[in-house]
Amino acid sequence: MAGETDTEGGGVIDPGRAPAVEISGVTKVFPGGIEAIAPLTLTLEPGRTTALVGPSGCGKSTLMRLIAGLDQPTVGTVLIAGAAPAAVAERGELAVAFQDPSLLPWRTVRRNIALALSLTRAPIDDEAIDRLIALVGLDGFGDVRPAALSGGMRQRAAIARALVTRPRLLLLDEPFGAVDELTRQDLVAELPPLWQERGTTTVLVTHSIVEAARIADRIIVFSPRPARIVADVAVELPHPRTPELSRTGAFLAVVDRVTDALARSRGRDHASRP
Ligand SMILES: Nc1ncnc2c1ncn2[C@@H]1O[C@H](COP(=O)(O)OP(=O)(O)O)[C@@H](O)[C@H]1O
Ligand SMILES: [Mg+2]
Repeated sequence: MAGETDTEGGGVIDPGRAPAVEISGVTKVFPGGIEAIAPLTLTLEPGRTTALVGPSGCGKSTLMRLIAGLDQPTVGTVLIAGAAPAAVAERGELAVAFQDPSLLPWRTVRRNIALALSLTRAPIDDEAIDRLIALVGLDGFGDVRPAALSGGMRQRAAIARALVTRPRLLLLDEPFGAVDELTRQDLVAELPPLWQERGTTTVLVTHSIVEAARIADRIIVFSPRPARIVADVAVELPHPRTPELSRTGAFLAVVDRVTDALARSRGRDHASRP
């Protein structure tokens, strides 16, 4: 199996461990004829972080659900390291943190995170859980139930839960939506080094172009529904991407390219409609 290769040295991505995501000729048409994804072919490189941006309702979450194996394409295939998403999920190698964090209400934050480990039959590592609780800024809230947390805190708990199993593929759909600005800044600074160190293949949906440029190695810009790729922007900036870096010309050039692509795709769409 590819995953048996050993890595030496922290931060080195082992291409044998990180899975590529291959989306081939995928479309999604919902009952009633709503076409969410136009034929889409896209390969996400192993161990890299790809951000997906596009207008609201263009099909980003639909695509994430297809990659997660939570739904099936109408046409085409999604393969993760050559395997079907559902099989990868079954092996506990894929984790998701979506907009609506589905925490179990009767379990504390700590026990929600521990459940993810149990589901993959991994031993419960209390220290790792504590570190993640601290990383997402929930120190002191480990023994609290979700109902006593704000929406942003629940989202952060869901991020910790997604990270605890050290997934090979991490899918984040607007994970910072309800998270307050300061915590969001912390997460944007601290999560990418963690993924790099672990060699995680990460897909992030975000509304924030600046956030995408801070986090991602590549930004895919989608058109309004049905989602088509209108720009594919490589972000060749060093990590860690500090707030200082985000004031440099190179960073602002990336933000400009993505902003322009979004604006153009919307303009064309409006112009082409009778
Ligand atoms: N289960 C579903 N049944 C019918 N239509 C859906 C379903 N899920 C999403 N859609 C529609 O597909 C389109 C894309 O939705 P979505 O992928 O959630 O967009 P985004 O995440 O980019 O905002 C929207 O028009 C939405 O209403
Ligand atoms: Mg969405």
